[in-house]
Amino acid sequence: MSVIVQQASHPPSFRTDRDGLAFEALCDEIEHADIAADQALKKKEQDDKDEASRFDAEKDKTQFRDYENACDRVKNFYSEQHTKQTVAYNLKARHAFHSKTRAEMSIWEAMERLNTLIDESDPDTELGQIEHLLQSAEAMRRDGRPRWMQLTGLIHDLGKLLFFFDAEGQWDVVGDTFAVGCAFDDRIIYGNKSFASNPDFNDPVYSTENGIYTPGCGLDKVMISWGHDEYLYHVVKDQSTLPDEALAMIRYHSFYPWHQQGAYRHFMNEKDHEMLEAVKKFNPYDLYSKSDERPSVEELKPYYMELIDEFFPSKVIKW
Ligand SMILES: [Fe+2]
Ligand SMILES: [Fe+2]
Repeated sequence: MSVIVQQASHPPSFRTDRDGLAFEALCDEIEHADIAADQALKKKEQDDKDEASRFDAEKDKTQFRDYENACDRVKNFYSEQHTKQTVAYNLKARHAFHSKTRAEMSIWEAMERLNTLIDESDPDTELGQIEHLLQSAEAMRRDGRPRWMQLTGLIHDLGKLLFFFDAEGQWDVVGDTFAVGCAFDDRIIYGNKSFASNPDFNDPVYSTENGIYTPGCGLDKVMISWGHDEYLYHVVKDQSTLPDEALAMIRYHSFYPWHQQGAYRHFMNEKDHEMLEAVKKFNPYDLYSKSDERPSVEELKPYYMELIDEFFPSKVIKW
């Protein structure tokens, strides 16, 4: 049963009228739902076997990202997202981010807050957000991935807090991302026809291959649809000492048309090719660690608190 979040202890900037359970359910469906193109991903992973992470080798990947059999909720979600993610909306969202007084809390508090906001609406939730973050980080730690990458796994979805700040709905928080300001690529989930109701779809500039960009301009200059990836990237880039690879993993982890489908290659510069490799290394830990054993939050906390301190010089972060 879905219960509306009501807790007096939230700071005033938090929206308490948002249904955390519905949000969590949609996140789950999106991430477990699939596209035919996932077949290509599996083949590619097979080809890159030694590069691919070791831990996920035995997982049944057919159960993840199954969009073809996705329910109406996922289809409706993408229909709304593809209609509303316009250049105008994206400029507005970035402006709001830079011009508002933002909530302040530590990374660990943010993890607990995200977990609480979602869990408190559903006492039966099996795995909370905090567990997904810890599972991703722990899988990287087991594989001997560097400390900065483990931390990236730990924080990569904290941008979902956006849903409880000033997002307009779920469509500007979760789901696959894509470039705006240029033609909607056919490799985006459900194809470019899915954008037919988007005001930018027939725009004389935004509907062209390059749109407002120039070939080779670099993805730093490309506006990626606003959501939890882009938001967290903006939060972390000025407040941590995480390397560029980590920032790319955060910014592009839902950018499936790019990192799995090969879209937007014409905008890439040299640095982006290196970043693409990093994001591909990250992706399996996000997707396939979800069936791993339930982590013990209290046991793992000291290790990760130290890791957070290593890369976030100030304990309190502006969200
Ligand atoms: Fe995510
Ligand atoms: Fe994730």
